[in-house]
Amino acid sequence: MTDRRVQVAIVGAGPAGMLLAHLLAADGIESAVVETRSEDYVASRIRAGILEQSTVDLLHSCGLGDRLTREGDRHRGIYLQWPEERHHLDFVDLTGRSVWVYGQTEVQKDLVAARAAEGQEIHYEVSDTALHDLETDRPSVTFTDASGTRQRIVADVVVGCDGSFGPSRHAVADPATWEKTYPYSWLGILADVAPSTDELIYAYHPDGFALHSMRSATVSRLYLQVPNETDVAEWSDDRIWDALAVRLGHGQDGWHLEPGSITDKSVLPMRSFVSAPMRHGRLFLAGDAAHIVPPTGAKGLNLAIADVGLLVPALVDLLRKDDPHLADAYSDTALRRVWRCTHFSWWMTTMLHATGDPFEEQLRLSQLRWVTSSEAGATGLAENYAGLPIGF
Ligand code: PHB
Repeated sequence: MTDRRVQVAIVGAGPAGMLLAHLLAADGIESAVVETRSEDYVASRIRAGILEQSTVDLLHSCGLGDRLTREGDRHRGIYLQWPEERHHLDFVDLTGRSVWVYGQTEVQKDLVAARAAEGQEIHYEVSDTALHDLETDRPSVTFTDASGTRQRIVADVVVGCDGSFGPSRHAVADPATWEKTYPYSWLGILADVAPSTDELIYAYHPDGFALHSMRSATVSRLYLQVPNETDVAEWSDDRIWDALAVRLGHGQDGWHLEPGSITDKSVLPMRSFVSAPMRHGRLFLAGDAAHIVPPTGAKGLNLAIADVGLLVPALVDLLRKDDPHLADAYSDTALRRVWRCTHFSWWMTTMLHATGDPFEEQLRLSQLRWVTSSEAGATGLAENYAGLPIGF
């Protein structure tokens, strides 16, 4: 067993773990990151595509905003629609805040490049990761590295950024958990075709929800509500484009959906999950390790980044000034925002997905009419979608 000593051991090299390493380094705090997957796998998994205002502000403030400014696309708002109706909500007019289309894969590339330039210690493809002595001030992480050597990292603090399947979540003793599984999933595609819309379209249709999103001027990302346990093999490219055309209103008011070559197809389950507290002794959790939201409203990545935004000043005070106040408040502070986003994601999901229940369908339509015709309703959606300040 080889032993290493660092200030912060980070489990998970996704956006939360890498941003944490980056912000800690800017404050002179040394960290080591361990990750079970390969660097390529983490860099290429297709995830969210929308960054809210405070995420963009945070990335700019730590020197990660250049490519985002050049290659990302600022959106003023979204379209909300249901059969025969399409309405634009302008977040900038409503709240003064906007969102950016810039894929999680791009955020990850920028983070990996920035950390590589500063010689960040990262161990990819590790196995048997375990957390120890979390109730002491010398917690540690043990693992087998890619070459088969057992290693131990002894730290002042361990941060679990290892998602809902990682070991960190299970190290919190007797957590309170809340969970909701939705009775539908999303079929997501990436297509080599210019988006047929300037901003995202969220569509309710009695056949099911559809979303037209995008990754760039030449790559579109679209989703369809499908039953749970759907096998992608049942959905030919033609069947997907036909369903998208119906649900997104192809042909209405001169609008056309341009189909293109599909390069990726997958089924995503929809789940809400919260685990509290987000701390156990010297272990802190950030991102999906503590909470999962369904993708409607694009909160997952933004929430993970907000956790890190709250955790960094807490760790800096704890490790540099021996001041535990922010660290002691971290779980409660983060969970306030987690529950706000959990509610918003649930609300967007239930407002836009078909359940076949005629009573619920009328409620959905009434809610959609209110959100698109009342300034108060529209502002509530805009404030949550474009994102509340990190310390909210
Ligand atoms: C995406 O582009 O992947 C995306 C955008 C908005 C959502 C969910 C997913 O609400």
